[in-house]
Amino acid sequence: MMEFEQVIDRNQSNSMKWDFYPDRYGADDLWPMWVADMDFQAPKPVLQAMQEVVEHGIFGYHRRPKSLFDATTAWLEKRFDWNVENDQIVFTPGVVPSISHIIQTFTEKEDGVIIQPPVYYPFYALIHNNERTLVRNPLKETGQGFTIDLEDLEEKMKQAKMLLLCSPHNPIGRVWTEDELSAVAELAEKYNVLVVSDEIHADIVLEGQHIPFAKAAAGKEVETISCLAPSKTFNLASLQLSYVIFENKEAKKKYESHLQREFVGIDNPFATVAAEAAYRYGEEWLEQMLHYVRSNVHRVKDYIESNMPEMKVIEPEGTYLVWIDMRELNMGNKELEKWLRHEAKLALSDGPIFGKEGAGFVRMNVACPRETLEEGLRRLQTAYDNKK
Ligand SMILES: Cc1ncc(COP(=O)(O)O)c(C=O)c1O
Repeated sequence: MMEFEQVIDRNQSNSMKWDFYPDRYGADDLWPMWVADMDFQAPKPVLQAMQEVVEHGIFGYHRRPKSLFDATTAWLEKRFDWNVENDQIVFTPGVVPSISHIIQTFTEKEDGVIIQPPVYYPFYALIHNNERTLVRNPLKETGQGFTIDLEDLEEKMKQAKMLLLCSPHNPIGRVWTEDELSAVAELAEKYNVLVVSDEIHADIVLEGQHIPFAKAAAGKEVETISCLAPSKTFNLASLQLSYVIFENKEAKKKYESHLQREFVGIDNPFATVAAEAAYRYGEEWLEQMLHYVRSNVHRVKDYIESNMPEMKVIEPEGTYLVWIDMRELNMGNKELEKWLRHEAKLALSDGPIFGKEGAGFVRMNVACPRETLEEGLRRLQTAYDNKK
């Protein structure tokens, strides 16, 4: 059996997705397809490397070695033709905390920070918790799907210090093109706006090619900070390893001083060896995983379009998250939520948590074995049929 077909029971493993959804959804008989991790085991070389750490058995203070920097920069070069030097990188314990520290280091209270909703919902809290001003540049829906509203972005940049870009975009699944990124870079240069590019989904591209914002902005006077991680790519989120890439040495120094003041910097050896093994030996696994996820996306699209014609599947170019348009069901937010929980018995991510533009949409995580996916579709179908 192909490894991605294998159903591994995640119940009672303290999994946020499988064990803790009742806290969030208020019901305990749901089928979980929400939080963005995968129901697949990490690549074998990762497991092996972590086992060696267990066998060594000493978990004292640990630092990230040069070999991890080397493996990371080699990966970026190979996957994105992106030439990053080791000394541009700062390892951090998660992309979300990294962005919070970036906001604290490079902006002041009340400064405007632009986001492009509907978007990964912790972005809202990052801005509010740090007492910055949320500036919204909603994505534009066209006949061909979603794109960046550049005219509106230009207006918003006049009131902002920073743009928080989500590239590829969660939950829409867009992989921004070179033209789109260059246009954003041009505006950022014109209005002197810092661009923080969250590229945590960079490796999960199903169609097209991910272009790092820093590459698209090369040659322009744009302050860029990029945030990446092997966590989505290889299903290592709970190991808490991410990294921030700086184009500007002074900015990097400033950021490192901030982290020191906050006492961020205790690293763990499991994350080091897992990330290094993934980057050195995980590429084939990644290609197979992408192939599998692509087939799941197609299955969801074909199934829903043939059997539930009032729903539309926005086929993602990137991420393993499928944005489903249920607006034609004509339910209000609360009604749709209730229907999904109590009739379909599914734990999906409700569209409105990503911003008011998400009303009528849901996000389904398809990084799971086909059997798990089919159960989700069956549940949706039953609720849909009962509604008719
Ligand atoms: C766009 C985006 N950024 C950040 C994260 C989470 O990052 P971390 O777990 O490293 O804080 C996610 C997880 O879904 C995400 O989709």
